[in-house]
Amino acid sequence: MKLLIIGGTRFVGRHLVAAALARGDQVTLFNRGQTSAALPPGVAWIQGDRGGDLSALRGQRWDAVIDTCGYLPADVARMAGALDASVGRFAFISSVSVYASSATCNHEDSPLGHIDDTDTTVVDGRTYGPLKALCEQAVVQRCGTRALIVRPGLVVGPHDPTKRFTWWPARVARAVRDGQPMLAPGAPGRPLQFIDARDLADFVLHALDAGCGGAYNAVAPGGFTTMQGLLDACAVAAGGRPSLVWANDGDLARLGVEPWMQMPLWLPEGGEHAAFMLVDQRRAQAAGLRQRDLGDTVADTLAWWRALPTAQRQFDNTGLSPEREAQVLVALADDRQPRA
Ligand SMILES: NC(=O)c1ccc[n+]([C@@H]2O[C@H](COP(=O)([O-])OP(=O)(O)OC[C@H]3O[C@@H](n4cnc5c(N)ncnc54)[C@H](OP(=O)(O)O)[C@@H]3O)[C@@H](O)[C@H]2O)c1
Repeated sequence: MKLLIIGGTRFVGRHLVAAALARGDQVTLFNRGQTSAALPPGVAWIQGDRGGDLSALRGQRWDAVIDTCGYLPADVARMAGALDASVGRFAFISSVSVYASSATCNHEDSPLGHIDDTDTTVVDGRTYGPLKALCEQAVVQRCGTRALIVRPGLVVGPHDPTKRFTWWPARVARAVRDGQPMLAPGAPGRPLQFIDARDLADFVLHALDAGCGGAYNAVAPGGFTTMQGLLDACAVAAGGRPSLVWANDGDLARLGVEPWMQMPLWLPEGGEHAAFMLVDQRRAQAAGLRQRDLGDTVADTLAWWRALPTAQRQFDNTGLSPEREAQVLVALADDRQPRA
């Protein structure tokens, strides 16, 4: 396949490029050249800013385009307009955040989020989902049945810039190395749902080959794993068993620990995002979405993390700092002390 990828050098796009090259596809990237200057051998590059002049994209034909970095509807509409006549199929990487609510389980036809200020260029926690929904609409309006809309849940694996999933393999490895207890959030059996970026890449390419159109939730099936399952896989990758101190939703809330960013992947039951990881993905599964073994995702993520230069091996605002986690563990131990 002759493939154009808008983006392609950070995380999801990087794995798309690798998967496409491995299949023998002919790959061209369009990006500014800011995120990464080094491209894999054999990849053609068109330099440009999607918010600016798109004329460099004219005069060529591609079997498919995959737009990985569309966040603003006007930009996505311009891109679809510029490419409409020269591409066979248009795949847009969207998100399960398009849904109006993640308090209850979503399927592809669930209501989408709404935003009044459709021209805003501010992409934040409030606008990201509804803007992505409008981006999808722009692609479908232009490309009709040639549009493939892929809605990933949490994307994980090597090169993840958010480091949310990475926090767990790295945290367990530290606990095993230091022999110190670590905090485990919520309920051990609570389901987790995410997608390895490499499985996402394989699915997008497969769906393009198969001529799939419309929207697909791209995540592992419900019940793929649980918090306990993830920590077990992390223990295997780390080569030892950490001493886990489970803190339930109430404990963590009382101690001021915030879901998701302070305790990655922890979403309290009954909360506004309680069903973020309970998305119906049967449509994608039926269309060929497949999941690699969780152990492989964890081991590869840990290996990637360990190989990063020290300066990049930082979690910044993801996960509790060691000091804060130690405070929480002391407070929990104190609470659990039998009272005289
Ligand atoms: N991470 C998750 O958990 C998650 C979950 C659901 C959905 N998603 C979606 O998955 C996608 C992930 O994106 P990614 O960052 O991993 O993709 P990527 O394709 O690996 O990287 C982003 C690319 O966009 C290019 N780019 C950024 N601004 C540009 C501009 N103005 N003009 C041209 N190129 C530009 C960057 O290159 P330059 O900077 O060099 O231009 C880079 O190549 C997003 O659409 C996100 O909404 C992610």
